Amino acid sequence: MISLGLENVVVAETDLSLVDGLKGHLVYRNHWARDLAINNTFEEVAHLLWYGHLPSEQELADLNAKLVANRELPAHVKAVVDAMPDDMDMMEVLRTGVASLPLAGDTWPPTLDQIIYLTAKLPTIIAHRYARLNNREPVAPRTDLGHTANYLYMLKGEEPLTAHVRAFDAYLILTQEHGLNASTFTARVIASTRSDLVSSITGAIGALKGPLHGGAPSEVTEMIEAIGTKENAEPWIKAKLAAGERLMGFGHRIYRTTDPRAIALSKVASELTAEDKWFDLAVHVEQIALRLLKEHKPNRPLETNVEFYAAAVMRAIGLPDELFTPSFAVSRTVGWSAHVLEAAKGKIIRPQSNYTGTMPE
Ligand code: CMC
Repeated sequence: MISLGLENVVVAETDLSLVDGLKGHLVYRNHWARDLAINNTFEEVAHLLWYGHLPSEQELADLNAKLVANRELPAHVKAVVDAMPDDMDMMEVLRTGVASLPLAGDTWPPTLDQIIYLTAKLPTIIAHRYARLNNREPVAPRTDLGHTANYLYMLKGEEPLTAHVRAFDAYLILTQEHGLNASTFTARVIASTRSDLVSSITGAIGALKGPLHGGAPSEVTEMIEAIGTKENAEPWIKAKLAAGERLMGFGHRIYRTTDPRAIALSKVASELTAEDKWFDLAVHVEQIALRLLKEHKPNRPLETNVEFYAAAVMRAIGLPDELFTPSFAVSRTVGWSAHVLEAAKGKIIRPQSNYTGTMPE
Protein backbone atom coordinates (compact mmCIF):
# COMPACT_ATOMS: atom_id res chain seq x y z
CA MET A 1 0.00 0.00 0.00
CA ILE A 2 1.21 3.50 -0.84
CA SER A 3 0.92 6.42 1.58
CA LEU A 4 1.01 9.55 -0.53
CA GLY A 5 3.06 12.25 1.13
CA LEU A 6 4.13 9.60 3.70
CA GLU A 7 0.97 10.52 5.65
CA ASN A 8 0.77 8.55 8.93
CA VAL A 9 4.00 6.68 8.16
CA VAL A 10 6.40 6.50 11.12
CA VAL A 11 10.01 6.32 9.94
CA ALA A 12 12.08 7.23 12.98
CA GLU A 13 12.29 7.21 16.74
CA THR A 14 13.30 10.46 18.37
CA ASP A 15 13.57 11.79 21.89
CA LEU A 16 13.68 15.38 20.69
CA SER A 17 9.99 16.28 20.49
CA LEU A 18 6.43 15.00 20.68
CA VAL A 19 3.84 16.51 18.36
CA ASP A 20 0.40 15.24 19.41
CA GLY A 21 -2.02 16.45 16.78
CA LEU A 22 -5.18 15.35 18.56
CA LYS A 23 -4.39 16.81 21.96
CA GLY A 24 -2.56 19.83 20.53
CA HIS A 25 0.57 19.03 22.52
CA LEU A 26 4.12 20.08 21.70
CA VAL A 27 6.85 18.77 24.00
CA TYR A 28 10.60 19.28 23.68
CA ARG A 29 12.41 16.59 25.68
CA ASN A 30 10.05 16.43 28.66
CA HIS A 31 9.24 20.17 28.64
CA TRP A 32 6.16 21.93 27.26
CA ALA A 33 7.38 24.07 24.36
CA ARG A 34 4.99 26.87 25.40
CA ASP A 35 6.61 27.02 28.87
CA LEU A 36 10.09 27.09 27.38
CA ALA A 37 8.99 29.97 25.13
CA ILE A 38 7.93 32.00 28.17
CA ASN A 39 10.66 31.08 30.65
CA ASN A 40 13.79 30.38 28.62
CA THR A 41 16.08 31.83 25.97
CA PHE A 42 16.98 30.66 22.47
CA GLU A 43 20.34 29.39 23.69
CA GLU A 44 18.90 27.50 26.68
CA VAL A 45 16.37 25.65 24.52
CA ALA A 46 19.01 24.94 21.87
CA HIS A 47 21.13 23.43 24.66
CA LEU A 48 18.18 21.29 25.72
CA LEU A 49 17.73 19.95 22.20
CA TRP A 50 21.41 19.46 21.41
CA TYR A 51 22.77 18.22 24.76
CA GLY A 52 19.63 16.66 26.25
CA HIS A 53 19.12 18.97 29.23
CA LEU A 54 18.67 22.63 30.08
CA PRO A 55 22.09 24.16 30.76
CA SER A 56 23.69 24.97 34.09
CA GLU A 57 25.02 28.52 34.40
CA GLN A 58 28.47 27.36 33.30
CA GLU A 59 27.15 25.29 30.39
CA LEU A 60 25.11 28.27 29.20
CA ALA A 61 28.11 30.59 29.43
CA ASP A 62 30.17 28.09 27.41
CA LEU A 63 27.50 27.76 24.72
CA ASN A 64 27.04 31.54 24.51
CA ALA A 65 30.78 32.03 24.15
CA LYS A 66 30.97 29.49 21.32
CA LEU A 67 28.02 31.01 19.46
CA VAL A 68 29.46 34.51 19.82
CA ALA A 69 32.89 33.38 18.60
CA ASN A 70 31.34 31.95 15.43
CA ARG A 71 29.17 34.87 14.34
CA GLU A 72 31.50 36.50 11.80
CA LEU A 73 31.34 35.33 8.18
CA PRO A 74 34.41 34.22 6.22
CA ALA A 75 35.27 36.74 3.47
CA HIS A 76 34.39 34.31 0.69
CA VAL A 77 30.87 33.77 2.10
CA LYS A 78 30.27 37.53 2.08
CA ALA A 79 31.53 37.61 -1.52
CA VAL A 80 29.18 34.76 -2.50
CA VAL A 81 26.22 36.55 -0.92
CA ASP A 82 27.20 39.87 -2.50
CA ALA A 83 27.52 38.27 -5.91
CA MET A 84 23.89 37.13 -5.97
CA PRO A 85 21.52 39.32 -8.01
CA ASP A 86 19.37 41.72 -5.95
CA ASP A 87 16.12 40.16 -7.11
CA MET A 88 16.98 36.72 -5.73
CA ASP A 89 14.75 35.61 -2.88
CA MET A 90 16.30 35.82 0.61
CA MET A 91 15.81 32.06 1.08
CA GLU A 92 17.75 31.37 -2.12
CA VAL A 93 20.53 33.61 -0.85
CA LEU A 94 20.49 31.94 2.57
CA ARG A 95 20.56 28.49 0.99
CA THR A 96 23.58 29.44 -1.13
CA GLY A 97 25.34 31.29 1.70
CA VAL A 98 24.97 28.29 4.01
CA ALA A 99 26.10 25.92 1.25
CA SER A 100 29.33 27.91 0.95
CA LEU A 101 30.29 27.56 4.62
CA PRO A 102 33.44 25.49 5.05
CA LEU A 103 33.56 22.81 7.76
CA ALA A 104 36.94 22.45 9.41
CA GLY A 105 38.44 18.97 9.74
CA ASP A 106 36.49 15.77 9.17
CA THR A 107 33.02 16.39 7.79
CA TRP A 108 31.74 13.07 9.14
CA PRO A 109 30.36 12.36 11.70
CA PRO A 110 28.58 15.66 12.47
CA THR A 111 29.66 17.30 15.73
CA LEU A 112 28.18 19.77 18.20
CA ASP A 113 30.99 22.22 17.39
CA GLN A 114 29.96 22.15 13.72
CA ILE A 115 26.34 22.65 14.74
CA ILE A 116 27.15 25.70 16.87
CA TYR A 117 29.37 27.13 14.12
CA LEU A 118 26.54 26.84 11.58
CA THR A 119 23.77 28.04 13.88
CA ALA A 120 25.80 31.16 14.71
CA LYS A 121 26.27 32.02 11.03
CA LEU A 122 22.68 32.06 9.71
CA PRO A 123 21.62 35.40 11.29
CA THR A 124 24.80 37.05 10.01
CA ILE A 125 24.22 35.84 6.44
CA ILE A 126 20.65 37.17 6.48
CA ALA A 127 21.60 40.50 8.09
CA HIS A 128 24.53 40.96 5.70
CA ARG A 129 22.27 40.48 2.69
CA TYR A 130 19.48 42.62 4.13
CA ALA A 131 21.87 45.53 4.75
CA ARG A 132 23.24 45.32 1.20
CA LEU A 133 19.72 45.29 -0.29
CA ASN A 134 18.96 48.42 1.71
CA ASN A 135 22.19 50.15 0.60
CA ARG A 136 23.68 50.03 4.09
CA GLU A 137 27.02 48.70 5.27
CA PRO A 138 26.43 45.35 7.01
CA VAL A 139 26.49 45.74 10.80
CA ALA A 140 29.14 43.61 12.51
CA PRO A 141 27.79 41.18 15.12
CA ARG A 142 28.05 42.26 18.77
CA THR A 143 29.68 40.00 21.31
CA ASP A 144 27.64 41.23 24.28
CA LEU A 145 24.19 40.34 22.95
CA GLY A 146 22.36 37.01 22.94
CA HIS A 147 21.55 35.17 19.69
CA THR A 148 18.12 36.76 19.20
CA ALA A 149 19.05 40.28 20.28
CA ASN A 150 22.17 40.24 18.11
CA TYR A 151 20.16 39.07 15.08
CA LEU A 152 17.69 41.96 15.53
CA TYR A 153 20.57 44.36 16.18
CA MET A 154 22.33 43.38 12.95
CA LEU A 155 19.08 43.70 10.98
CA LYS A 156 18.09 47.09 12.36
CA GLY A 157 21.47 48.63 13.10
CA GLU A 158 20.33 49.63 16.59
CA GLU A 159 19.84 47.84 19.87
CA PRO A 160 16.38 46.22 19.86
CA LEU A 161 13.68 46.83 22.49
CA THR A 162 13.63 44.23 25.25
CA ALA A 163 9.95 43.52 24.53
CA HIS A 164 10.83 42.79 20.89
CA VAL A 165 13.68 40.48 21.87
CA ARG A 166 11.40 38.55 24.25
CA ALA A 167 8.62 38.23 21.67
CA PHE A 168 11.03 37.15 18.93
CA ASP A 169 12.73 34.72 21.29
CA ALA A 170 9.33 33.15 22.02
CA TYR A 171 8.70 32.73 18.28
CA LEU A 172 12.19 31.32 17.65
CA ILE A 173 11.90 28.87 20.57
CA LEU A 174 8.46 27.66 19.47
CA THR A 175 9.78 26.93 15.98
CA GLN A 176 13.12 25.34 16.88
CA GLU A 177 11.79 21.81 16.66
CA HIS A 178 8.69 20.04 15.32
CA GLY A 179 9.16 16.34 14.68
CA LEU A 180 9.44 15.00 11.15
CA ASN A 181 8.20 17.98 9.17
CA ALA A 182 9.30 18.10 5.51
CA SER A 183 12.51 20.08 6.05
CA THR A 184 13.62 18.03 9.07
CA PHE A 185 12.95 14.85 7.13
CA THR A 186 15.07 16.26 4.30
CA ALA A 187 17.92 16.96 6.73
CA ARG A 188 17.65 13.42 8.09
CA VAL A 189 17.63 11.83 4.63
CA ILE A 190 20.84 13.67 3.76
CA ALA A 191 22.48 12.81 7.09
CA SER A 192 21.48 9.15 6.68
CA THR A 193 23.76 8.91 3.63
CA ARG A 194 26.73 10.04 5.79
CA SER A 195 26.98 13.28 3.87
CA ASP A 196 27.90 16.38 5.95
CA LEU A 197 26.04 18.83 8.20
CA VAL A 198 26.24 21.73 5.72
CA SER A 199 24.55 19.58 3.07
CA SER A 200 21.79 18.57 5.48
CA ILE A 201 21.03 22.16 6.48
CA THR A 202 21.27 23.41 2.89
CA GLY A 203 18.75 20.79 1.77
CA ALA A 204 16.47 21.56 4.70
CA ILE A 205 16.47 25.27 3.82
CA GLY A 206 15.36 24.32 0.31
CA ALA A 207 12.44 22.31 1.71
CA LEU A 208 11.46 25.00 4.20
CA LYS A 209 11.20 27.62 1.45
CA GLY A 210 8.03 26.16 -0.09
CA PRO A 211 4.71 27.94 0.63
CA LEU A 212 3.12 24.76 2.01
CA HIS A 213 5.83 24.64 4.70
CA GLY A 214 7.86 27.62 5.93
CA GLY A 215 6.97 29.96 3.10
CA ALA A 216 3.44 30.51 4.44
CA PRO A 217 3.83 33.49 6.85
CA SER A 218 4.63 36.13 4.24
CA GLU A 219 1.57 34.90 2.34
CA VAL A 220 -0.47 35.44 5.52
CA THR A 221 0.41 39.13 5.58
CA GLU A 222 -0.29 39.35 1.84
CA MET A 223 -3.72 37.81 2.50
CA ILE A 224 -4.54 40.25 5.33
CA GLU A 225 -3.43 43.19 3.20
CA ALA A 226 -5.40 41.95 0.17
CA ILE A 227 -8.52 41.59 2.33
CA GLY A 228 -7.99 45.13 3.63
CA THR A 229 -11.26 45.59 5.57
CA LYS A 230 -13.39 43.49 7.90
CA GLU A 231 -16.33 43.65 5.47
CA ASN A 232 -14.20 42.19 2.70
CA ALA A 233 -13.05 39.14 4.71
CA GLU A 234 -16.01 36.87 4.01
CA PRO A 235 -16.38 37.50 0.23
CA TRP A 236 -12.59 37.37 -0.26
CA ILE A 237 -12.17 34.05 1.56
CA LYS A 238 -15.26 32.53 -0.09
CA ALA A 239 -13.90 33.42 -3.52
CA LYS A 240 -10.50 31.86 -2.72
CA LEU A 241 -12.02 28.64 -1.46
CA ALA A 242 -14.45 28.47 -4.39
CA ALA A 243 -11.45 28.79 -6.71
CA GLY A 244 -9.87 25.77 -4.97
CA GLU A 245 -7.11 27.82 -3.36
CA ARG A 246 -5.68 27.27 0.12
CA LEU A 247 -5.74 29.77 2.93
CA MET A 248 -2.25 30.30 4.24
CA GLY A 249 -1.84 29.87 7.98
CA PHE A 250 -4.54 27.19 8.23
CA GLY A 251 -4.47 23.40 8.15
CA HIS A 252 -1.75 21.02 9.22
CA ARG A 253 -0.65 17.49 8.46
CA ILE A 254 -0.57 16.51 12.14
CA TYR A 255 -2.77 18.93 14.11
CA ARG A 256 -6.50 18.31 14.08
CA THR A 257 -6.90 21.04 16.66
CA THR A 258 -5.40 24.51 16.92
CA ASP A 259 -1.63 24.41 16.63
CA PRO A 260 -0.38 25.04 20.21
CA ARG A 261 2.28 27.37 18.78
CA ALA A 262 -0.47 29.51 17.24
CA ILE A 263 -2.17 29.80 20.65
CA ALA A 264 1.08 30.89 22.31
CA LEU A 265 2.02 33.29 19.51
CA SER A 266 -1.41 34.92 19.33
CA LYS A 267 -0.90 35.89 22.97
CA VAL A 268 2.61 37.21 22.28
CA ALA A 269 1.35 39.18 19.27
CA SER A 270 -1.66 40.63 21.11
CA GLU A 271 0.60 41.88 23.92
CA LEU A 272 2.79 43.66 21.38
CA THR A 273 0.04 45.12 19.26
CA ALA A 274 -2.52 46.69 21.55
CA GLU A 275 -4.98 48.67 19.42
CA ASP A 276 -3.29 47.79 16.16
CA LYS A 277 -5.63 47.88 13.17
CA TRP A 278 -3.76 45.23 11.23
CA PHE A 279 -3.83 42.80 14.16
CA ASP A 280 -7.51 43.51 14.79
CA LEU A 281 -8.23 42.69 11.15
CA ALA A 282 -6.07 39.54 11.33
CA VAL A 283 -8.05 38.23 14.33
CA HIS A 284 -11.29 38.93 12.45
CA VAL A 285 -9.99 37.17 9.32
CA GLU A 286 -9.03 34.15 11.45
CA GLN A 287 -12.56 33.84 12.86
CA ILE A 288 -14.22 34.12 9.45
CA ALA A 289 -11.70 31.74 7.88
CA LEU A 290 -12.25 29.08 10.55
CA ARG A 291 -16.02 29.22 10.01
CA LEU A 292 -15.75 29.07 6.22
CA LEU A 293 -13.12 26.30 6.31
CA LYS A 294 -15.53 24.20 8.41
CA GLU A 295 -18.23 24.63 5.76
CA HIS A 296 -15.67 24.02 2.98
CA LYS A 297 -14.27 20.78 4.45
CA PRO A 298 -16.72 19.49 7.06
CA ASN A 299 -14.82 16.22 7.46
CA ARG A 300 -11.34 17.67 7.76
CA PRO A 301 -10.55 19.91 10.73
CA LEU A 302 -8.62 22.88 9.31
CA GLU A 303 -7.45 25.02 12.20
CA THR A 304 -5.06 27.92 12.64
CA ASN A 305 -1.41 26.90 12.31
CA VAL A 306 1.79 28.48 13.62
CA GLU A 307 2.33 30.60 10.52
CA PHE A 308 -0.72 32.77 11.01
CA TYR A 309 0.49 34.32 14.27
CA ALA A 310 4.17 33.98 13.39
CA ALA A 311 3.41 36.56 10.73
CA ALA A 312 1.68 38.76 13.31
CA VAL A 313 4.60 38.58 15.77
CA MET A 314 7.28 39.28 13.18
CA ARG A 315 5.29 42.13 11.70
CA ALA A 316 4.80 43.60 15.19
CA ILE A 317 8.53 43.70 15.85
CA GLY A 318 9.08 45.45 12.55
CA LEU A 319 10.43 42.66 10.35
CA PRO A 320 9.48 42.86 6.68
CA ASP A 321 7.80 39.86 4.98
CA GLU A 322 10.98 38.83 3.18
CA LEU A 323 12.62 38.01 6.53
CA PHE A 324 9.83 35.78 7.88
CA THR A 325 10.88 32.46 6.36
CA PRO A 326 14.64 33.12 6.73
CA SER A 327 13.99 33.78 10.44
CA PHE A 328 12.15 30.46 10.61
CA ALA A 329 15.35 28.87 9.23
CA VAL A 330 17.38 30.60 11.98
CA SER A 331 15.36 28.77 14.62
CA ARG A 332 14.71 25.47 12.87
CA THR A 333 18.45 25.00 12.30
CA VAL A 334 18.51 23.95 15.95
CA GLY A 335 15.98 21.15 15.39
CA TRP A 336 17.40 20.15 12.02
CA SER A 337 20.86 19.72 13.46
CA ALA A 338 19.64 17.82 16.52
CA HIS A 339 17.89 15.42 14.12
CA VAL A 340 21.06 15.14 12.04
CA LEU A 341 22.87 13.85 15.14
CA GLU A 342 20.16 11.21 15.58
CA ALA A 343 19.93 10.26 11.90
CA ALA A 344 23.70 9.98 11.61
CA LYS A 345 23.49 6.91 13.85
CA GLY A 346 20.74 5.25 11.82
CA LYS A 347 20.19 3.40 8.58
CA ILE A 348 20.26 5.08 5.19
CA ILE A 349 16.74 6.31 4.35
CA ARG A 350 15.78 4.61 1.15
CA PRO A 351 12.07 3.95 0.54
CA GLN A 352 10.57 2.41 -2.59
CA SER A 353 8.30 3.41 -5.44
CA ASN A 354 5.94 1.37 -7.61
CA TYR A 355 6.72 1.55 -11.31
CA THR A 356 3.61 2.58 -13.25
CA GLY A 357 5.24 2.88 -16.68
CA THR A 358 5.32 0.27 -19.42
CA MET A 359 7.95 -2.43 -19.98
CA PRO A 360 10.25 -2.48 -22.99
CA GLU A 361 9.41 -5.14 -25.65
N1 CMC B 1 -7.09 26.04 2.91
C1 CMC B 1 -8.03 25.42 2.18
N2 CMC B 1 -8.11 24.09 2.06
C2 CMC B 1 -7.18 23.35 2.68
C3 CMC B 1 -6.17 23.94 3.44
C4 CMC B 1 -6.14 25.33 3.56
N3 CMC B 1 -5.19 25.96 4.26
N4 CMC B 1 -5.39 22.97 3.95
C5 CMC B 1 -5.87 21.81 3.51
N5 CMC B 1 -6.96 22.05 2.73
C6 CMC B 1 -7.79 21.06 2.07
C7 CMC B 1 -7.03 20.44 0.91
O1 CMC B 1 -7.26 21.16 -0.29
C8 CMC B 1 -7.58 19.04 0.87
O2 CMC B 1 -8.78 19.05 0.15
P1 CMC B 1 -9.14 17.82 -0.85
O3 CMC B 1 -9.23 16.61 0.04
O4 CMC B 1 -10.45 18.23 -1.45
O5 CMC B 1 -8.02 17.75 -1.82
C9 CMC B 1 -7.91 18.73 2.33
O6 CMC B 1 -8.05 19.99 2.98
C10 CMC B 1 -6.84 17.95 3.02
O7 CMC B 1 -5.59 18.63 2.81
P2 CMC B 1 -4.23 17.91 2.47
O8 CMC B 1 -3.50 18.69 1.42
O9 CMC B 1 -4.45 16.46 2.23
O10 CMC B 1 -3.49 18.08 3.84
P3 CMC B 1 -1.96 17.90 4.08
O11 CMC B 1 -1.78 17.29 5.41
O12 CMC B 1 -1.33 17.19 2.93
O13 CMC B 1 -1.42 19.40 4.06
C11 CMC B 1 -0.80 21.57 4.70
C12 CMC B 1 -1.11 20.14 5.17
C13 CMC B 1 -0.22 22.36 5.85
C14 CMC B 1 0.24 21.50 3.57
C15 CMC B 1 -2.11 22.22 4.20
O14 CMC B 1 -3.05 22.30 5.25
C16 CMC B 1 -1.89 23.60 3.60
O15 CMC B 1 -1.55 23.68 2.41
N6 CMC B 1 -2.05 24.70 4.39
C17 CMC B 1 -1.78 26.03 3.89
C18 CMC B 1 -0.27 26.32 3.92
C19 CMC B 1 0.23 26.56 5.31
O16 CMC B 1 -0.34 27.29 6.09
N7 CMC B 1 1.39 25.93 5.60
C20 CMC B 1 2.04 26.04 6.92
C21 CMC B 1 1.94 24.74 7.67
S1 CMC B 1 2.39 24.83 9.39
C22 CMC B 1 4.08 25.10 9.47
C23 CMC B 1 4.97 24.24 8.68
O17 CMC B 1 4.79 23.04 8.52
O18 CMC B 1 5.94 24.78 8.18
